[in-house]
Amino acid sequence: NLIKGAKAVLNSNFNEDKGFTIPCEGLYPFQWHWDSGFIAIGYAHYDMEKAKREIESLLSGQWNNGFIPHIVFHNHSDTYFPGPDYHRSDLHPAAPKDIKTTGITQPPVLGFVLKEIYEIAQDKTEILEFIKRNIDKVYKNHQYFYTHRDPYNEGLVYIYHNWESGTDNSPIWDEIWQTMDPPKYKYERKDTTHVDASQRPTNSEYDCYLHLLEIAKAHNYSDKKIAELSPFLVQDPLFNAILIKSTEALIELYEIISGHSEKIESLKNWLEKAKKRFEEKLFDIHSNSYVYYDLRNQKHIVHTTSSSFTPLFAGIPNQERANQLVKQLETVFGSDNLFLCASFDPTSKHYSPMKYWRGPIWINLNWLIYKGLKRYGYFDLARRIKAETINFIEKHGFYEYFDARKQKFETAAYGGNNFSWSAALILDLIK
Ligand code: DGY
Repeated sequence: NLIKGAKAVLNSNFNEDKGFTIPCEGLYPFQWHWDSGFIAIGYAHYDMEKAKREIESLLSGQWNNGFIPHIVFHNHSDTYFPGPDYHRSDLHPAAPKDIKTTGITQPPVLGFVLKEIYEIAQDKTEILEFIKRNIDKVYKNHQYFYTHRDPYNEGLVYIYHNWESGTDNSPIWDEIWQTMDPPKYKYERKDTTHVDASQRPTNSEYDCYLHLLEIAKAHNYSDKKIAELSPFLVQDPLFNAILIKSTEALIELYEIISGHSEKIESLKNWLEKAKKRFEEKLFDIHSNSYVYYDLRNQKHIVHTTSSSFTPLFAGIPNQERANQLVKQLETVFGSDNLFLCASFDPTSKHYSPMKYWRGPIWINLNWLIYKGLKRYGYFDLARRIKAETINFIEKHGFYEYFDARKQKFETAAYGGNNFSWSAALILDLIK
């Protein structure tokens, strides 16, 4: 039944005409970057043609400098703000002329998604043909990051907007909002017409989100200007772990394809440098976890979030450090009264168990952590997080996020329903 339900969600969110899947009707009516990556993994289990179309439609929004936007506006919809006319991708000369997009990105999942799909495919020859057609575009995206998003040539890239992190309203960003004093823009939010406002970001947070976009637009989305001026400039452990994992996956795929030694060499150089710097700069010995670096204000933002555990997915820590990290996952995030894995430190005063990325459990983060635990041999904990993830969906359906508190299990489902990546990743977990 779960498989049937998951397929029904994905199929009903699929836009047959344009070949992509919306994350959620009403709330997210266009194509989102990292959603599409996770969605493609789900399709790969039962309809490889859809998996391919999902990826190719996302890549049709790629800019000619390698940048892949966070939303591609293939279709019209008036249920979402801010839409294409607000984002104005046409301001940047590298943006495609025939399709509108945003000028911010999202965690670069495509490298590891291609590898996952390759692993799932029955017909390796056929899927390799598809990968050969598309892999250079993903390579170009990585090249974009290391050329345009790493001003000190560290191997770590920055994000300039909380929507780029994917963890939109995490308390991590609160300190940055306090450094900003955005004007009172006039606009009408649409998200709170679909989902209860208590489960979404606040209006004053939205003012800051828009202000960051206004600054970027005022400089035609110039990376150089943004690096110079944006009040938000952060090295995020989730974003960088995903880039590292995707880099590793591209190396593995190019090796299977063979004959790309120059690209493999560049990727290996990036990988080595990035992993080393990640470990040196983002591990905090006091909190025993991976944290964030605020490049604008030159300081660490020291809180533990579900993103702090994703370096396991990318093979970054050594076994000893992995042990410390997993101990924290098990005892703090996985204590007796909690299901895994809250999106923010459940012992913190900023923890808010019903509010979007300030506490609730997300299926994609659980999937990344599950994969990371298996990579390092923590099979019991991996089984636990998988079972708890499936349990939420079995009980409530394919919701967007869930309450980690065990005593709230009866009413634990929040945000949008029939949410695509919740369906797609369940198909992968129960395969
Ligand atoms: C939203 O609108 O909440 C999205 O997460 C932005 O990408």
